Amino acid sequence: MTTYPIEIHVNGEWQRAEVTARETLLDTLRNRWNAFEVKDGCSQGDCGACTVLLDGKAVNACLTLALQANGKAVLTLRGLGTAESPHPLQKSFVEHGAIQCGFCTAGMLTSAKALLDESPDPSREQIREGISGNLCRCTGYTKIVEAVEAASVNSRE
Ligand code: FES
Ligand code: FES
Repeated sequence: MTTYPIEIHVNGEWQRAEVTARETLLDTLRNRWNAFEVKDGCSQGDCGACTVLLDGKAVNACLTLALQANGKAVLTLRGLGTAESPHPLQKSFVEHGAIQCGFCTAGMLTSAKALLDESPDPSREQIREGISGNLCRCTGYTKIVEAVEAASVNSRE
């Protein structure tokens, strides 16, 4: 099977691999580079659990070919913040109880980051729209929307 060399800047470090034309970015991140923070919920673009930022835009890693990400920058949850130095969105999710089982959280946070990068002062409607591709079976979304709203206020202050 033909493979192609790729290099992707993942959370600030170049990673390299040989991939087939059909390999998804999700599989490359998880299976080759141990980026298990990128969740595999449905593998078909329905749940948003695999959301990462590709050159700053939120994409479903399960619908993105690894080759499409060649030479580009990927940000996953691990690149957002650390336990010692959390991103304002991460702090806000904890403070607002916007996490229950946590399966959707990495995708929610990356989608929310893309939203706030583009619209630092979003309305509640814009927040709902920004996370509309991310399913959560636990929280009912209210606390998540409140957490994103509070993070946007804190980031601006
Ligand atoms: S795993 Fe990609 S959208 Fe569900
Ligand atoms: S917290 Fe469980 S799916 Fe969202």
